[in-house]
Amino acid sequence: MAILLATDFGAAELALWSELLQTELPAETLVSDRMDCDPGVIDIAIVANPPPGALSCLPNLRLIQSLWAGVDTLLRDPTLPAGVPIARMVDPAMNQAMAQTALWAVLSLQRDFFTYAAQQRAMQWLPHPQRRADEVSVAVLGLGQMGQAAARRLAGNGYRVSGWSTREVAVPDVATGSGEAALARVLGDASIVVNLLPLTPATTGLFDRTRFAQMRRGAGFVNLARGAQVVDADLLAALDSGQLRHAVLDVFHSEPLPAGHRFWTHPQVTLLPHVAAQTDPRSAAPIAASNVHALREGRALQHLVDRRRGY
Ligand code: NAP
Ligand code: GLV
Repeated sequence: MAILLATDFGAAELALWSELLQTELPAETLVSDRMDCDPGVIDIAIVANPPPGALSCLPNLRLIQSLWAGVDTLLRDPTLPAGVPIARMVDPAMNQAMAQTALWAVLSLQRDFFTYAAQQRAMQWLPHPQRRADEVSVAVLGLGQMGQAAARRLAGNGYRVSGWSTREVAVPDVATGSGEAALARVLGDASIVVNLLPLTPATTGLFDRTRFAQMRRGAGFVNLARGAQVVDADLLAALDSGQLRHAVLDVFHSEPLPAGHRFWTHPQVTLLPHVAAQTDPRSAAPIAASNVHALREGRALQHLVDRRRGY
């Protein structure tokens, strides 16, 4: 049998992953082009943003292992084989990278560092009043792998943190809630809102004019999850009206963010090129390989996606 590596990687990245995975899986045959073998011998696919159709007509496929934490793009492929288990990437190193990005964004908003960066470009010397961390309330939406790591890191740095998720979950030093009423309360209480929800039908377009209106006037908004969860025009209107003070955006409807999009030049937007928590091949290759071993040895697969929920 063989493992198909179906990705959108360039040659160098593909070579690195192939080498690391082959080291972890010395007994396995790895192919990166499905034309290189009989489709019937491929029983595992390790994927990262595979082109639509990449996994169709593989009659003996038994596991799809994603190298990405979010599987929304994968699940949108109408040719994705039904019934084949999908495992997503859960890597403590990635969670820590996300916690760092969330802390950087919140700290920069708390201490006006984005404002000072703009002032430097304008050669403007203008100190602002300094807020303490315990004067800043932060809402983390989504309390899974990423959200919990971020919430813990923020609470550990002295912020007043609340969290929101579908099911009630206990996170030390974080006030948690679930359900629609709790969302309005959590949004209304927060000086800064950090989005770490997966992209599903329920979260698509969640951040619209209604949600921005529920936030405190002058709040900060940090989107580290998926661009399609935000209605861009409503976010721009909220920034322009002063309802929101600043947005930190790592993810966009279309990536790379198209030239000419207002986010590129908006003075109240700080953007990153989808790097809040990159998959690190050094830690992620052994994690992907451990599910391959589990399948081969008949053990339970880890971090399976619930296709009905979409994450
Ligand atoms: P996860 O472990 O599956 O956690 C998802 C969390 O969101 C859970 O707490 C879940 O609650 C909650 N949730 C889902 N749908 C909800 C809804 N409709 N209402 C309220 N809560 C809801 O996922 P994760 O590993 O933390 O990753 C989250 C997302 O981060 C990924 O899907 C991906 O889009 C994004 N991400 C971005 C980057 C980047 O570099 N920008 C990197 C990695 C991941 P329940 O468990 O109670 O259902
Ligand atoms: C990155 O956005 C991921 O989902 O891993």
